[in-house]
Amino acid sequence: MQRFFLFCNMKNTLIINKTVQFVKETLQGAEGGHDWFHIERVWKNAKLIAKNENVDLFIIELGALLHDIADAKFYDGDESIGPKKANAFLKSLSVNEDVIQHIINIINNISYKNSLELNAIKFHSKELDVIQDADRLDAIGAIGIARAFNYGGFKNRELYNPEIKPNINLSKESYKKSKAPTINHFYEKLLLLKDLMNTKTGQKIAKERHVFMEQYLEQFYSEWNGNK
Ligand code: ADP
Ligand code: NI
Repeated sequence: MQRFFLFCNMKNTLIINKTVQFVKETLQGAEGGHDWFHIERVWKNAKLIAKNENVDLFIIELGALLHDIADAKFYDGDESIGPKKANAFLKSLSVNEDVIQHIINIINNISYKNSLELNAIKFHSKELDVIQDADRLDAIGAIGIARAFNYGGFKNRELYNPEIKPNINLSKESYKKSKAPTINHFYEKLLLLKDLMNTKTGQKIAKERHVFMEQYLEQFYSEWNGNK
């Protein structure tokens, strides 16, 4: 029995290592906020959060590694490419069908914009909760700020424009279409995340990162207005 588990673990480690290679190769040249290092941070955050949760670590690792394998916003909004790529890759490693289906459900349900969709078919699992928290943590705090401005630059958006007010009740469609300045993204998403965390550990880390963002914004406006 013990030998069987040892064999399983070895096989799982091999699958994780191959997945790391696959993700690194696939995301070469990706936008700075959605590149391999984003995946690596989410992977680490997910493992940290998982320590306090009763979850399947193999699913956590695979889900974290594959969650942005083809983010729809870089594929003309096509949400089917990510799940397809993950499916083909995991099949090529002969991963168990139930595991593959779980990973596909995670990829399809992790994103913030999908949570804005009213009639979305919702999937739920503890593993999704953990990976979603890990991904959301990377959208806030110092890294979150860097990622937001990098994405804004990538899209040629203004940093800030006092005449364009944030719109906090965005639908999925208007969220995707938004061309608003990057500062607005703080009010439209980043500052809302701390209250949307699923796990205790996620909530705790999010609170600290949230305070940092509030301080950052205060400093930003002071400098903008020539007060400091
Ligand atoms: P999801 O992929 O979970 O649906 P998004 O694509 O909206 O979420 O956001 C992923 C990250 O991309 C954000 O946390 C942020 O760093 C960046 N981003 C997305 N949209 C914007 C935007 N309008 N302005 C600035 N950054 C953005
Ligand atoms: Ni992500």
